[in-house]
Amino acid sequence: MENRPQWGTRAGFIMAAAGSAIGLGNIWRFPATAYENGGGAFFLPYLFALLTAGIPILIMEFAIGHKYRGSSPLSLARLNKKAEWLGWWQVGISFIIAVYYAAIIAWAMSYFVFSLKLSWGQDTEGFLFGDYLKLAEVPGQTGSIVPGVLIPLILVWVIALGVLLKGIKKGIEAANKIFLPTLIVLFFIIVLRAITLDGAMEGLNAFFKPDWSAIADGKVWVAAYGQIFFSLSVGFAIMITYSSYLPKKSDLTNNAFITGFGNSAFELLAGIGVFSALGFMAMQQGVSIDEVVAGGVGLAFVVFPQIINEFPAFNQLFGLLFFGSLTLAGLTSLISIIETFVAGVQDKFNVSRTKSVLMGGGLASIISLLFATQGGLYFLDVMDYFINNFGVALAGLVEIILVAWVFRELNNLQKHANSVSDIMLGAWWKICLSVITPVVLGYMMFDNVRTNIS
Ligand code: PHE
Repeated sequence: MENRPQWGTRAGFIMAAAGSAIGLGNIWRFPATAYENGGGAFFLPYLFALLTAGIPILIMEFAIGHKYRGSSPLSLARLNKKAEWLGWWQVGISFIIAVYYAAIIAWAMSYFVFSLKLSWGQDTEGFLFGDYLKLAEVPGQTGSIVPGVLIPLILVWVIALGVLLKGIKKGIEAANKIFLPTLIVLFFIIVLRAITLDGAMEGLNAFFKPDWSAIADGKVWVAAYGQIFFSLSVGFAIMITYSSYLPKKSDLTNNAFITGFGNSAFELLAGIGVFSALGFMAMQQGVSIDEVVAGGVGLAFVVFPQIINEFPAFNQLFGLLFFGSLTLAGLTSLISIIETFVAGVQDKFNVSRTKSVLMGGGLASIISLLFATQGGLYFLDVMDYFINNFGVALAGLVEIILVAWVFRELNNLQKHANSVSDIMLGAWWKICLSVITPVVLGYMMFDNVRTNIS
């Protein structure tokens, strides 16, 4: 326990935590989720979920990891012997996310290279499903323009596991210190260019136009909580693991605020960039925004290539920037996801870091090869849907109910956080976690299930 590795600097930890939070979820999940759930009106439940659940849970997870100094299963076991399973459940969800997240990053890497020649042509959908993923199914049969997803997928795993093998300070921290600032610079350039395109204002109008009736819908609230949890990486064992490497004197509460607000700022920026670009495309094609809005795989690999085709100038450059950003955002999150089970295995079985990286990462990388096929895309959709609609909000809810009500640990964690932080946690923190979030999220989930059944 004494030999636990540590982050080198406070900024290093914040970048690693923000690198985990800022990911594909910010770029391709948030804009479409907001648009489909009330547009401008979505910001109300979104902010509510951020302030009363996202950041308070982040503080709680930082406090758990920092106080009990272990991976999620070990920290939770130290908190209460009966809580260890929760840690493994989170590690399990992270493992599932890792195997498909890696495949998406691999596609982004391929598309980064395709950008050079705009290889996807005019029929971007046909290219994705017909050429790219089909060829990828038979690795030996790679065409001249399509290297297949196999090579980028191997590359993704080599980078991620290579970083993890180097450890906390020289690996994860060093990588985030390069990847995250680069990402932010690239993304700023994209957004600046996007908002000056013709049609950008129409896109932004569509994005921010509030549909207030959405607020009465439980589904919208569950979507807001789900987005916050996924995007902030809370409920996945990650933040507990990362904070277990903090030095004894570390301002937990302040770090959580910086990470939470930083992540949402990037998310908002992504929404503005994506909708400006969608507005441009709708104008070029003379259709309404509704017809071009997409999220997930469709947004990144079908719609964006079309936007890049229609770009007034420097099409290739825009492609490189966009897919480069996606790759960097994804990698820093993937590294954090894999670290959860690497750390879990290491703590539980007392094996070396090298062994647990090679075992855990090796297994995940082999399973992720399945996603490098056309059938994989189908799996991915099913899993993504399932994890996002049921897994994420539920995992967060179960975690706080257990910590607040079953193990009654909030007082201890509050004392712990206050002993090291500048910002003092008051009663509001406990009220958010033990009352507001369980009641609001619990009720909204119930309402959602009820209206879905009837
Ligand atoms: N927070 C990351 C994103 O927004 C995704 C992620 C989810 C990372 C779960 C780790 C764990 O994309």
